[in-house]
Order: sequence, then C-alpha cells, then structure tokens
Amino acid sequence: MTDEHLNILLIGDSGVGKTSLLKRFIDNKFEDNYISTLGVEYNKKVIQINNMNVELEIMDTSGQEKFRTIQKSFYQNANGIIFIFDVTNFDSFENIKNYLKDAESISEDYKYVLVGNKIDLKNSIVVKKENVYERDIFKDIKYFETSAKYNTDKNVEKPFEELTKLILTEGLDNYRKRRENSFHLHNQNNDNNIESKSCCK
Ligand code: GTP
Ligand code: MG
Repeated sequence: MTDEHLNILLIGDSGVGKTSLLKRFIDNKFEDNYISTLGVEYNKKVIQINNMNVELEIMDTSGQEKFRTIQKSFYQNANGIIFIFDVTNFDSFENIKNYLKDAESISEDYKYVLVGNKIDLKNSIVVKKENVYERDIFKDIKYFETSAKYNTDKNVEKPFEELTKLILTEGLDNYRKRRENSFHLHNQNNDNNIESKSCCK
C-alpha cells in the first residue's frame, strides 16, 4: 500500500551518470559499460518518508541533444526534478542553467535538487562545492555530491529522499494547481475548437 505517488525527472547531459545513479538507487548495482538511454525509461521504487510509503516513478531521460524536444514534454508531469552534472566535466555543470530555464518556462513552482556525480574520480574533479554555491541561481538549492560507482554513506539515496521531502512539504499543492490549469487550458482549447468549427461551417 502506498500513501503517495510522485513523478521524478532525471535531467542532465549525456554521460553524466543519470542511468547509473538510478540503477544504484533501485538495484544497488553499477556497470562500467556506457549504453546511452534512448528517449526515456521509467522505473519505480517505494521509499519511506515521514512514516509514509511514497512510490517514486522516476523518468530517466536521455541527455542526447536529439531527444531534447521530447525531454521538455516530460516536465509537465513531473512533481520534482533531479538535475545531474558530472564533477569532472565543467560543460555539464554550465549546461544545468539551460535545463533550469526549460523547467521554469513550464512552471516556476518546481521542486528540484542538484547532483554532482562521479565524485570518486578525485584527481579529475573540476567542479567543487564552492563553484556551485558561488552561483546566484544555485544559492537556495540543495546540492549533493554522489558516486554511483562507490556508493559510500548512501550518498545516492539522499537526493531522492530530500527531493521527496521537499515535494511533500511544499510542492504538491503547486503541482496539483499546475495540473488543474493545464487541464482547464486543454478543455478550453477543445471548446474553442468546437466553437470555431461550428461557427465556420
Ligand atoms: P545518457 O543516457 O546518454 O544521457 O547518459 P547517462 O547520464 O545516463 O550516463 P550513464 O549512467 O549511462 O553513465 C555514463 C558513463 O559514466 C558509464 O560508463 C558509467 O559507468 C559512468 N559513470 C556513471 N556514474 C559514475 C560514477 O559515479 N563514477 C564513475 N567513475 N563513473 C560513472
Ligand atoms: Mg542514461
């Protein structure tokens, strides 16, 4: 029995480790092979937060540029987003602001957290915690460093749990309003279509 169902979106450049993080979170496994995700893949996991069983439906999107348009269509159904970059790849960090813009063009009420992955590659790290916090756009965001390869101290679970808490405490009302608005807008558009059809026969 689950008390709540949430849709979570994983967003970030290709190769940053979105699928690997999810695999670690769901199956506690890691693979060195890189098989890029095509489009989107869905996974589910039930977690316990504040004495509730919360079912997370997690949409693992592809970071490939050619899927960017379909990626945007998933924002509408999301309760929250985990933005992921690779701490050894500065461009993947820079690109987060574009993904944020995409999300905010749909709604300003999203709950999200930020993840810097591959923290195990100690000698190649180019994005440090201070680089994240010195950016104005990230000053209020919860930031987590993770390694899908060596999941020490259960670091991979934290972003999922913290995002769930954020959504449950302040995000669900906003999400429901957004869904209602898009439902009304959809109906309105349909009504308009009917009217215009009947008026112009
Ligand atoms: P797309 O599906 O193309 O968007 O990529 P993705 O973000 O899902 O990346 P994926 O999880 O497939 O990982 C890409 C590569 O990085 C794979 O070879 C993984 O083994 C490796 N990788 C992922 N996470 C880590 C990590 O924490 N540490 C290290 N060292 N390698 C990682
Ligand atoms: Mg992937």
